[in-house]
Amino acid sequence: MRHFSPTNGQMMAEQVSLATVAAEVGTPAYVYSAATFTRHYQVFAKAVSAMDSLIAYSVKANSNQAVLSLLAKLGSGADVVSGGELARALAAGISADKIIFSGVGKSAAEMRAGLEAGIAQFNIESMPELEQLNVIALDIGKIAPVAVRINPNVCAGTHEKISTGRAENKFGIDIADVDAVFERAVHMPGIHLQGIAMHIGSQIDNLAPFASAITLAAGLIERLRKQGHKIETFDIGGGLGISYAGGDTVPPTPREYGDLVRRLTQDLGVRMIFEPGRMIAGNAGVLLAKVLYVKHGGARNFLIIDAAMNDLIRPALYDAYHDIEPVKAPAAEAKMISYDVVGPICESGDTFTQHRMLPEMQAGDLIVLHTAGAYGAVQASQYNSRPLIPEVLVKDDQYAVVRKRPSMADILKTEHVPDWV
Ligand code: LLP
Repeated sequence: MRHFSPTNGQMMAEQVSLATVAAEVGTPAYVYSAATFTRHYQVFAKAVSAMDSLIAYSVKANSNQAVLSLLAKLGSGADVVSGGELARALAAGISADKIIFSGVGKSAAEMRAGLEAGIAQFNIESMPELEQLNVIALDIGKIAPVAVRINPNVCAGTHEKISTGRAENKFGIDIADVDAVFERAVHMPGIHLQGIAMHIGSQIDNLAPFASAITLAAGLIERLRKQGHKIETFDIGGGLGISYAGGDTVPPTPREYGDLVRRLTQDLGVRMIFEPGRMIAGNAGVLLAKVLYVKHGGARNFLIIDAAMNDLIRPALYDAYHDIEPVKAPAAEAKMISYDVVGPICESGDTFTQHRMLPEMQAGDLIVLHTAGAYGAVQASQYNSRPLIPEVLVKDDQYAVVRKRPSMADILKTEHVPDWV
């Protein structure tokens, strides 16, 4: 559900006009809707409410402090993949006992930070990582709560760069090797092995890969129990796809997903952990931009906008589709034109879309790229020395800049020219 729709011919974020945000904050900017975040969290929570579960929002999707604080107040936990994300989750008021530390390469310092905070679980992805965690836990006199992330070798049917559950991916431990990890862990006094974890990919648009992976993991859990190991938690990661429109397949609803998970896990007697990211954040944000120039090239019409691939890299990196709409609703008789929508960066890859039919536009017109709330701002860079763009959170008829645009002076301050240059 989106809270971005037109009122009296002007696109709004809840009850705030995007034209007003553009005038007061400037473009490009990310604009988020608090109501959408809240609704998505609640829909997901309801879908899994019949299970004993923890929802650990995947911070990597959108890690703004205002967003994390909003989700913390709704009761969310956090799935973090770095010391930075851990610090963000704690600063936003997410209690440590709801924090899961995922990731294939946690450093010693990150393990120490997680142990000192008292997080709920480390998802480990290799034997050397488990050994290192044991050493650090013993060193500071703690016992690390751990789940083993398995690699179920299932094809999630998603873009290759966001598929994570096949044997050739770097993630997880082969199911056949997990028994040995549990055997070794019995002899590690700094480790309390409590569960199984997995995450098979992102933007998954059908339930079959989830069903296959859960079934495999359930078999493993039963096998481990027969060997005398206690399994208390089962973390199935994130990955539920969302609609980006543009004719893509309609992903399963959270309810269908929740029902499937419950059916396949109800006899296991485990606490379920979910790590949704995109499902919570994706449709809670838009990228607001302005048309700089309309250029009629030899073969194409280019809409050159002030946002670029450094602000939203998904189209360049994953050929991702984002719906594009003018902020001012077009007249009924508006001419439709085929545009390539591009940014100002000096690379042909700085293209948001090609051959998109849009109402005729002019320099100065505002547009939005929808479904930019997840993996938008968090993946931005300052390439071409374009400062990170502001993030704005709307709630009802009010808005706030929740991350401001740094000035060039702020950026230059972080760099240093040694006197021997
Ligand atoms: N848990 C783990 C261990 C993950 O690696 C991820 C995402 C999630 C949970 C959340 O998955 P979600 O529910 O959001 O699908 N930048 C890419 C997506 C990368 C996803 C990486 N891992 C994109 O823009 O499509």
